[in-house]
Amino acid sequence: MNAKMISESDLAIELKGVRKSFAPGTETLKGLDLKIQKGKVTVIIGFSGAGKSVMLKHILGLLHPDHGAVTVFGKDISHLNEHGLNELRKRFGMLFQSAALFDDMTAIENVSFPILEFKRDLDKNQVLGVAREKLEVVGLGVEHHQKFPSELSGGMRKRVGLARALALEPDILLYDEPTTGLDPIMSEMVDNLILETHKHREGLTTVIISHDLPAAFRLGDNIAMLDSGKIRLFGPPEEFFKSQDPFIQKFVSKVKESKRQ
Ligand SMILES: Nc1ncnc2c1ncn2[C@@H]1O[C@H](COP(=O)(O)OP(=O)(O)OP(=O)(O)O)[C@@H](O)[C@H]1O
Ligand SMILES: [Mg+2]
Repeated sequence: MNAKMISESDLAIELKGVRKSFAPGTETLKGLDLKIQKGKVTVIIGFSGAGKSVMLKHILGLLHPDHGAVTVFGKDISHLNEHGLNELRKRFGMLFQSAALFDDMTAIENVSFPILEFKRDLDKNQVLGVAREKLEVVGLGVEHHQKFPSELSGGMRKRVGLARALALEPDILLYDEPTTGLDPIMSEMVDNLILETHKHREGLTTVIISHDLPAAFRLGDNIAMLDSGKIRLFGPPEEFFKSQDPFIQKFVSKVKESKRQ
């Protein structure tokens, strides 16, 4: 589908002319426009310092634009109060780079945590039931459920982190650098897990911030290239390969190089 033909109701997230400055005279986001479609995998790429994490914080309502608007499922989130923002964040699952597990909780306790917090009508057995099911979805064997993060491998910790991100049945799953710092085999495992998780949940919107260009091109239905606080190019991988923009071509040539290796 042509990016310009996407209708409002197909959108999970929209940023319109978002500007953000942290210090006078410098702008981090310089009028950023982005449409993230429901049910698709969108990968955000860009050099370090381009503004990817700042953009992510705007989507979660942790930062507010100086100008412009952020809309999630058709709702402008800038006017939400704390309660509204909490309701909004329940629709998001977030997997951080380090998996960010609680070290003093077992795998299953980590996954139970958001359920206990947000689904107060469930009793303890029901909570454990949901947590077990999520751990099953991400392929963590029952023999590991009672282990603490320090007793799990890096890949297993990622699985627990992902199970916790899935705990509240989110509509949007956000990954910030899911494979940075992992070896190639582990990276491939995490990438496959992301894709399987996406396919497993009908209608799930997946947003990945990534430095890993070959993976971005493999996973993304759409790719958004962020450069100096703006979107330089947005579209399916083919559009990047077709682009005549020297800046984009430089990026794409790196992907081609790594394929040959
Ligand atoms: N809270 C803040 N206060 C001041 N400056 C900030 C703040 N957050 C981000 N910045 C600045 O905004 C710019 C973009 O930062 P951001 O973290 O979004 O980059 P990034 O694209 O995520 O980079 P990386 O790939 O290294 O994670 C940087 O110059 C950073 O110093
Ligand atoms: Mg970042």
